[in-house]
Amino acid sequence: MYFSPEPKRRKEDFFNMEEELRMFQKILSLGKLIIVSGLRRYGKTSLILAAL
Ligand SMILES: Nc1ncnc2c1ncn2[C@@H]1O[C@H](COP(=O)(O)OP(=O)(O)OP(=O)(O)O)[C@@H](O)[C@H]1O
Ligand SMILES: [Mg+2]
Repeated sequence: MYFSPEPKRRKEDFFNMEEELRMFQKILSLGKLIIVSGLRRYGKTSLILAAL
């Protein structure tokens, strides 16, 4: 559902975070620890789920 309060899980539903998705995947390829920080409801959980 588009306006669900739940995190997005699919890249197609997750907008305007292409650069962050690329960064997440790049950092994941380099090391074992990624810290995702940001304001509440900014899309942190969605970023992680979409990237994985
Ligand atoms: N880039 C985006 N595209 C589409 N929906 C988004 C995006 N960023 C956030 N949302 C939506 O906003 C809400 C909050 O997203 P999410 O739960 O991923 O954020 P969060 O930073 O993990 O929040 P919290 O601080 O509560 O843990 C959800 O409904 C999510 O689907
Ligand atoms: Mg979260």
